[in-house]
Order: sequence, then structure tokens, then C-alpha cells
Amino acid sequence: MEKIYIVDFGSQYTQLIARRLRELNVYCEIHPFNKVPELDEEVKGIILSGSPASVRDANAPQIDLAPVFGKLPILGICYGAQYLAQTYGGEVLPSPSREYGRAILIIKDKEDVLFQNVRTESQVWMSHGDTIQKLPNETRVLASTSDVRNAAFRFDNAPVWGIQFHPEVYHTEQGMLILQNFVVSVCGCKQDWTPDNFVEQTVAQLKKTIGDDNVILGLSGGVDSSVAAILLKKAIGDRLHCIFVDSGLLRYNEFEEVLASYKNLGLNVIGVDASERFYNDLKGVTEPEEKRKIIGRDFVETFNEAAAKIPNARWLAQGTIYPDVVESASVSGPAAKIKSHHNVGGLPEKMHLKVVEPLRLLFKDEVRRVGKSLGMPQSLIGRHPFPGPGLAIRIIGDITPEKVHILQQVDKIFIDNLKRADLYDKVWQAGAILLPVQSVGVMGDERTYERCVALRAVSSVDGMTADWVHLPYDFLAQTSNEIINKVKGVNRVVYDISSKPPATIEWE
Ligand code: XMP
Repeated sequence: MEKIYIVDFGSQYTQLIARRLRELNVYCEIHPFNKVPELDEEVKGIILSGSPASVRDANAPQIDLAPVFGKLPILGICYGAQYLAQTYGGEVLPSPSREYGRAILIIKDKEDVLFQNVRTESQVWMSHGDTIQKLPNETRVLASTSDVRNAAFRFDNAPVWGIQFHPEVYHTEQGMLILQNFVVSVCGCKQDWTPDNFVEQTVAQLKKTIGDDNVILGLSGGVDSSVAAILLKKAIGDRLHCIFVDSGLLRYNEFEEVLASYKNLGLNVIGVDASERFYNDLKGVTEPEEKRKIIGRDFVETFNEAAAKIPNARWLAQGTIYPDVVESASVSGPAAKIKSHHNVGGLPEKMHLKVVEPLRLLFKDEVRRVGKSLGMPQSLIGRHPFPGPGLAIRIIGDITPEKVHILQQVDKIFIDNLKRADLYDKVWQAGAILLPVQSVGVMGDERTYERCVALRAVSSVDGMTADWVHLPYDFLAQTSNEIINKVKGVNRVVYDISSKPPATIEWE
């Protein structure tokens, strides 16, 4: 499979570069700068990412370009461009001021293949503290901005370009075109990484790998496990055995509805109601990480018990996707653990099964496209992400069946209203949080002292950063009214207006 290697120097935008190339139907892989695998014939070009580091630092991330320079096309972005400049005899100095934000790129050389069909003037996104003061010999400037003379350059005798701006960022108006010029016109990629091709190749590969064995898969109701299931079914039919666990912490009626839609899709699925077990084990527990641990353990045990009844299972399938497996370069030590998100951690070790992960090359948006190409209903592939520990981390404090019931009703009103107002697909994720707060209210002539719920709706691309959605006031007013009128025990609704960072999407 032809591919582009993206060498990661630790930029926050590295995954975005990869997603853009995938949108162009070009397959690419991200590799940390110090762990780039041997090149083979399939590698058609190399992109050097940005970095929080400065090429002037003594311990700046480095890579030996000698084996590829002049042999494969290279595109250096931001730090990548500065690295090229410095390595080949140019000079990189601190910018007089940090350049961050929009700038107008003026193309000087319209003939150059990297800028073919790009407008002479267009907006680009800059984010850098250093600037390329002097270019190496035998290079030429292709484009500039008012502040940055060497905003784009190329080497005369090698297919190597450096650009100071970020073409992968949405604010760079013609960024996609520039990336396309590089991967298609320069590297010659055929743009055949399409959902249909992925399905065809993956199904053939799964057939070969799994042979006549049986496979077990845990379904969660989410997009990833559902798409993984349909791919596997296509490959091995009823030898795929799915298990769907009801933890009692799902949304209102979700277990029944999702189970029915799985059955409609022809999946061989066992539904296990384990809510009592989860409620019992969670009794009195308030600490979020403790809740997560208990839920993880109960899930593994419930899943194992159901799996033990499936004869001759040799494989455990998982809906792991690319962001879960891609190793990112760290230039300042390993990232601190903020929350544990691994709800099924430990499953494979405990089950002595071989693991198969048909989606491990895909980003979330690609999983949805594959789901669509497999003919799956929008109700499954368009679902908002939902955390593995479910409503347990949206009930602040201890969990009781009564609290779950209240939150399910609130959540249902909110989500149904979003759908009705045609807002559901415009929001990345939405839900309600039950707060450990009671407040005074009046209903009729009576004083009430009841619960408060928070509503949260965010826009995001991958959950790593998020902004709160500016839902219309009328929508919020109507939803709040409906919740207070219909859900017994709730007399106050607030809307969460925090972005991530510094807040997280979930409250626990
Ligand atoms: P945070 O709260 O970290 O959430 O901003 C980012 C995304 O991850 C989901 N999330 C979880 N998913 N197990 C999961 O499978 C978890 O423990 C968990 N905690 C948060 C969250 O819903 C959001 O989509």
C-alpha cells in the first residue's frame, strides 16, 4: 500500500496533517522522529512536522535526512522547514516577536508545482517563535508574508520544500490544495485510500488471518465497535460472536434499542444485563478513578463469563482506532496521565486470546465513512461519543439506581430536543450531569428543595480540545422548561460554558 511518512517532532498539529492526507484518500503513517521505520518502496514521500522545540536548542529533535534527501520528496512544515534550512547551511534565529495567527501568503513563483492553482494571495496560519533568517545555498524563495520573507522555499536540485505556515490547519485557506499538490503531483500518490477499498482489503485480510476460528467482540453501542462488528461479519459471518453488556449506566432505553438494531443488522449478539452487579459494586463509591476501576473490573468479569460460553473462540476483536495506537513524539518527557480512559484494559491478557483490531489504521471520521460504505444506518454511525463508564461519571458523587433514572430522563429530553431542532449532528458530544447540589425553588405555591442538573454540549474534532456550543437561547429555555416540568426531583438546570482546556468534557 503506497504511503506517506509523517515524521513527528511533537507538534500539536501532527495528527491533523495525517487526517488531511486521509481526507485526500492518501494513506499515511505518523512516526516519532526517533523511531522512523526502514523505508520501503511503498513510501512515496516524507512530511516533517512542526514542534514545540527550537532547532537552536542543544537537544532539539533531529533526524538524519542524508539517506532520503534527493531520493524522496520531502515537505518540511514549520519546525520541519526550519530543520531543513538549518541542516543544509541556512540560519534560523528567534523571531523579533512570536508569530501566531493569520497572515497573507503572497506567492512569488506561481510555476512551482507545490503552489499550482493556489491563489497569488491567500490566508495562512502561522505559529512559530523562530524564523528562517538565511536560506541554504541552491534554494529559492517561493512565497512570503509581510513579516516572513522565507515563508516557503525549495531546493533547486532536490524535490524538497519547506513552508513556515501550517497547511493542515483550517485557517490556511488553500492548505488542502498545497498538501494535495505535494502528495499527488509531487509524490504521485494515486488517492486510492477510499472507504470501499479499505473494506475490500480489510475483509480479505481478516478472512486470511482468522481462518476458521471463532471471534468474540464486545459491542458498546458506539461507532467503533459497531463498525468493527460489521466488517468482521462480512469477513467471517456467524463465527463472529458479539457481547453487549448492560451496566445499568447506559442512556435511557439504550440497551434495548441498540440490541435491537444490532440484531436487525444480522449480528450474532448476546445481551447481558449486569446492572445489579455494577450498582452493588458501586454502592457508596464517590471517587471518579475508583468508579472507573470498579466499572472496568465488572465489565471484564461480566464479559469473560459470557465469553466462556462461546466455544472455540481464539480471537478477541477490539474497536481500537488510530489515535489510540499512534505513538506521538514527546520532546519534553511523557505526557502526564490526567484520566484513565481504558475501560476494557486487561481483557486480552486475562483471556488468552489473540487480538484482532480491524480499525487500528483509521481516524474516527474514517470509521464513520467506512460505516457508511458498509451501509450502516446513520443512527449508529452518527452517534455522539459516550464514555465507557457511562452515566457513572456524569453523576457526581455516589451512584444509585434512582439517580441513574433521573439522569436518564434529563439526558433523553436534552438529546431528543437536539435531534428535533436539527442540532444533534452539529454537536460533537452532548449529555447531562447530575450535580450533588440541591437548591431552593417554588412549584405552584410550594417551596421545593431539589436537584440541579448541568447540560453540556461541545464541538470538537477528536475530543482532545473542545469548545462549548453556543446553543440558541430559545432551545435552552425550552429544554430547561421541559426538564423541570417532566423530571421529578429536578428544579434547576444550568448550562456548562467551559472549554477544554482548561475544563474537560466530562465532569469526572
Ligand atoms: P474528557 O472528559 O477527558 O473526555 O475531556 C474526552 C472524551 O473521552 C470520553 N471519556 C471517556 N471515554 N472512558 C471512555 O471510554 C472513560 O473513562 C472516559 N472519560 C471520558 C469523553 O466522553 C469524551 O468523549
